[in-house]
Amino acid sequence: MIIRNGKLVLENGVEQKDLLIENGKIVKIADMLPANGEKEIDASGLYVFPGLIDMHVHLREPGFEHKEDIESGSKAAVKGGFTQICCMPNTDPVADNKVVVSYIRHRGEEVGLCKVRPIGAITKGEKGEFLADVGEMKKVGAVAISDDGKTVKNTRLMRLAMEYASGFDMKCLCHCEDIDLANGGVVNEGLNSTVAGLNGIQRAAEDIIIAREICLAESLNVPAHICHVSTHSGVRLIRDAKRAGVKITAETCPHYFALTDDVICDFNTNTKVNPPIREEIDKQAIIEGLKDGTLDCIVTDHAPHHADDKNVEYNLAAFGISGLETSFALTITHLYKTGVLTLPQIADRMSAAPARILNLEGGKIAEGEVADLMIADLDKKWTVDSAKFLSKGKNTPFEGHELYGEVKYTIVDGEVKYNG
Ligand code: DOR
Ligand code: ZN
Ligand code: ZN
Repeated sequence: MIIRNGKLVLENGVEQKDLLIENGKIVKIADMLPANGEKEIDASGLYVFPGLIDMHVHLREPGFEHKEDIESGSKAAVKGGFTQICCMPNTDPVADNKVVVSYIRHRGEEVGLCKVRPIGAITKGEKGEFLADVGEMKKVGAVAISDDGKTVKNTRLMRLAMEYASGFDMKCLCHCEDIDLANGGVVNEGLNSTVAGLNGIQRAAEDIIIAREICLAESLNVPAHICHVSTHSGVRLIRDAKRAGVKITAETCPHYFALTDDVICDFNTNTKVNPPIREEIDKQAIIEGLKDGTLDCIVTDHAPHHADDKNVEYNLAAFGISGLETSFALTITHLYKTGVLTLPQIADRMSAAPARILNLEGGKIAEGEVADLMIADLDKKWTVDSAKFLSKGKNTPFEGHELYGEVKYTIVDGEVKYNG
């Protein structure tokens, strides 16, 4: 296959070139490649990115297929420009053993859209009591471990998990929340929570565990990855830790750089997410953190829920946002069109960085690399309409938002898996 005349988003700039794919690999990047009788995509006026990689999604299978399953999640992923997604283990049963992990991997292969990489649990049943069999899970394809949805409360157990994971050349992905301090809160603690009369979660509930994980990573000299950073103070902790040489990496999500907690004021439960959407000062620090690389990558924390989990009063609604189909456009709209990040930086935060952090294939456009690619029209404006989502989760706080950036093609191992 030849992709013609696309603007290729490379590591150090954007260049208009033709790109030749053979046997699932990028074999040649050059001006005016001769036609070879194979399929051609005319990418004139479009941008070619490395396939996006989302290292933090919830696919809900097994156990919660009414919210999402591996097939619907994969369809949403390729529509969103993702060629590879890593799914969290908070399923039922929990992905804390080789049977569930290999099931997820095989089901992902069977669906055959994007690459589905399972994340194993840190503790059995995500109960925070006993470590799961990390080595066994790695053998069948787990790419990291996490008790996402929960913090491993017992610090000694978390220490063992980090050491153990590092022995298998894997990382712990840390959901940071001091559950006692959060005390059942549902939104950010601040003026808006007071006005709305909703219980707040203060920043310290997140920051204390971020600081704990940094302390463990430093004293053990092992890597750790901080999930979904939402606070300005968390960004500062991570920046300082990185400067001091601690092996910390971190992610944030579009809802933390695109929204403030003003959105909770109409009690729309689609704004309920954990950690909560915070304030302007946090939003600005998240943006700055993405710009200076303190925050390595953008993930969706795609957390699809059934309408029944959301059509209840705010306090009772499930936490989570369906994010796969809006992430790229939110990033283009809020970080590229505003001049915060360049396109190579966006390709880094949404593809190369996750590949680096988890040792995954892909993440760049270069001769010899796997042909996982995404082609987009960055000037196309569209309006978010959750009824059109391929995800079963229609829970988006971005309903009706006008965004720039439409995915036209998603190509996995040299095969077109989505054409919009
Ligand atoms: O909002 C969230 N939803 N945060 C989490 O940590 C878990 C996730 C879920 O599984 O629904
Ligand atoms: Zn989480
Ligand atoms: Zn999550």
